[in-house]
Amino acid sequence: MSKSVSICVIGSGYVGLVAAACLADMGHRVICVDNDEARVKQLCEGGVPIFEEHLPELLAKHRGANVTFTTRLAEAVEQSEAVFIAVGTPQGDEGAADLSYVEAVVAEIARAIKSYKVIVEKSTVPVYTNDWIRRVLHRHGVDNEQFDVVSNPEFLREGTAIVDFLHPDRIVVGASNERSAEVLRRVYGPLTGGAYYAQPGSVPGPCSKEKPARLLVTSTQSAEIIKHASNAFLAMKISFINAVANLAEAVDADIEDIAAGIGLDSRIGPKFLRAGLGYGGSCFPKDVAAFHWVAQERGVNLQLLEEVRKINDTQREVFFNKVRSALWTLRGKRLAALGLAFKGDTDDIRESPAVEIIKKLLQAGAVITAYDPAAMERAKEVLPPAANMKYADDPYKAAKDADALLILTDWKEFAAIDLARLNRALRFPIIIDGRNLYKPAEMQSHGFTYVSVGRQASYHAQEGKPRKVPV
Ligand code: NAD
Ligand code: UDX
Repeated sequence: MSKSVSICVIGSGYVGLVAAACLADMGHRVICVDNDEARVKQLCEGGVPIFEEHLPELLAKHRGANVTFTTRLAEAVEQSEAVFIAVGTPQGDEGAADLSYVEAVVAEIARAIKSYKVIVEKSTVPVYTNDWIRRVLHRHGVDNEQFDVVSNPEFLREGTAIVDFLHPDRIVVGASNERSAEVLRRVYGPLTGGAYYAQPGSVPGPCSKEKPARLLVTSTQSAEIIKHASNAFLAMKISFINAVANLAEAVDADIEDIAAGIGLDSRIGPKFLRAGLGYGGSCFPKDVAAFHWVAQERGVNLQLLEEVRKINDTQREVFFNKVRSALWTLRGKRLAALGLAFKGDTDDIRESPAVEIIKKLLQAGAVITAYDPAAMERAKEVLPPAANMKYADDPYKAAKDADALLILTDWKEFAAIDLARLNRALRFPIIIDGRNLYKPAEMQSHGFTYVSVGRQASYHAQEGKPRKVPV
């Protein structure tokens, strides 16, 4: 049997397109399907619709050979042994995931099945979705012998998606029989056997031939819960450190020292302890809500997740109040906003704290000039076109004559900014940093009034410390 697997990936978004490109780089033949005709046309013509490191190179290498793009789902399914579903599962009513895109795709797959297929649930879904997919296939007249459904959640992060996919901490496969698990072992064989890492031109990362990726086989329900629980746990870590940051500020402690001290405990670890504006993005907010909903449906108390959400929401208000506290009135104030994406290294603005804060500042009458290295076009689609909302094509132009500068996204470019030049550009040397990109002592030596998260604010020599605005 050939080691290469013929694969169809349905959905060419952040997960589907990355999966398609990576599976092609692993030596499989991949057909990527989307019902968005403009997107497929763009992909066929050599375009890359999302900002993701290594993606343009991988697509250029495999387009037209190991990876092709189409809107014709039935043909793609017919030609494939494994069918990955990677469509969106947005937040629906009452927090539950909206699975209508998944169901629509499954109905289309059902009409196309003529021989045995392994259907791979790649989208993030609540527990028992695997059973529902099976049921929908039966309802559309597909026999048990013609398919298996495997849960294979995806753990990639935007911005590092390609490296995360090809060098995963773990690959989780929830399967109900050995036949389907074996197909997934073949799909991921180049990573778990290490051959991919020895291949010339492979994308470098933490795995190697000697230390290949690990694959964990579980029940389908366990695999589904592993994904929701992982995201909920990471969101909880962020809310925890943000709550501690607010305490740190109240007692003159420093959250960066505290996070370092906590993170050195090997049981806790240093990652996901960065205090700031709270988590955003297309995953954590909706997955925390969906996981809570699943627990409630089963009569299980996961109220903890409601607190995680509340702390996250509060974090944006806390920041808004810092801006007010530093500037007094907001109407007519000119503010430079650095960052629009929900985090650095991506053009994604879904559930971006930066966008939410800017909307609130616009409502308060501030005049904003924003800059983001990758997300400006997408932000323009959701921020209201208004006379007080402007964009600049570099951070210094955004800062020109502004009353203060806000850091809203943790782009490396912002961390490496020329502080002296920034100071010259600003009308007043005031920086309110929602991502703790700078050291307070350094900001003080550059003559800034510097307000950040979970650390004491430092004030420009001529300024007194303002009284706190109550949250
Ligand atoms: P996305 O919105 O970027 O992409 C979804 C794509 O599916 C779109 O291009 C859309 O046109 C296409 N689509 C929808 N219905 C279709 C249909 N009937 N036929 C063909 N194509 C169809 O979504 P995403 O961010 O890639 O997320 C996909 C899933 O992966 C979600 O469940 C998400 O929770 C999960 N996930 C996302 C990430 C992430 O970082 N974005 C990480 C891990 C898991
Ligand atoms: C997340 C998960 O990490 C990933 O495993 C899953 O597959 C999809 O959801 P992503 O949303 O791409 O990935 O980004 P991530 O790096 O996890 O950041 C999510 C949000 O949390 C961002 O808004 C980020 O700024 C914020 N964050 C992250 C913090 O505020 N502090 C941290 O320490 C880490």
